[in-house]
Amino acid sequence: MTRQKIVAGNWKMNGSKESILSLVNGLLEMKNANSEVVVSPSFPYLSMVSELIGESDLVLAAQNVSDKEQGAHTGEVSALMLSELGVKYVLIGHSERRSLYAETDAFIASKAKALLAAGLTPMLCIGETLQEREAEQTFAVCIRQIQAVIDVIGIDAFNNVVIAYEPVWAIGTGLSASADQAQEVHQEIRAFLAQSSLSVSQKVQILYGGSVKASTSAALFEMPDVDGALVGGASLDAKEFIAIVKAAG
Ligand code: G3P
Repeated sequence: MTRQKIVAGNWKMNGSKESILSLVNGLLEMKNANSEVVVSPSFPYLSMVSELIGESDLVLAAQNVSDKEQGAHTGEVSALMLSELGVKYVLIGHSERRSLYAETDAFIASKAKALLAAGLTPMLCIGETLQEREAEQTFAVCIRQIQAVIDVIGIDAFNNVVIAYEPVWAIGTGLSASADQAQEVHQEIRAFLAQSSLSVSQKVQILYGGSVKASTSAALFEMPDVDGALVGGASLDAKEFIAIVKAAG
């Protein structure tokens, strides 16, 4: 089954009005990408970027969301608010939110439920730490993180979920997983999903994230179970990010 590739840029808490204007204008020069190209600015710039990308092929994502629908949740942003800004995808479960902001599997699952209720697509980030990999717990960790979301939204809802496998030891380190390492985990994830639903396992797009660079991305994209990339640092450079998109074919 062919799955469209997604190349998504997670800008994290980076950028200014000026630098983001320049980055988006650089990306808008990209034509005829076969992949779905996604940009994910911080909350304050979502509206500006939504306006800038307008009717282009660029797709908007947010980096977080409240699991609450509305109300007395100071500082939070709801799925409906993101939807009204033209957001399609929302990152949940990113390792930085799990480790720095104590987001649990259950909390992440409740965010997935809120996003689906608002018609948005969760981009569920999973992945093991170096310690967990060295303890041969990679698959157990990834499966636990996915199962926690299945327990809340059900397996069929994964028809509208994108998974991003981001080994924590590869994020921001310059040390990407090899194409074979990524393929091995993606294949395990797909096999795990197939135990509950073959159609979901064949449909779900599984992205790789963790020090993706133009020089390493082609080998990753050749892997049968790698359906794209979630790019951090390299997505802040228009030329580098466009080169990664081109490598996706
Ligand atoms: O969400 C993607 C991010 O965690 C990867 O960051 O800088 O290793 O590409 P980076």
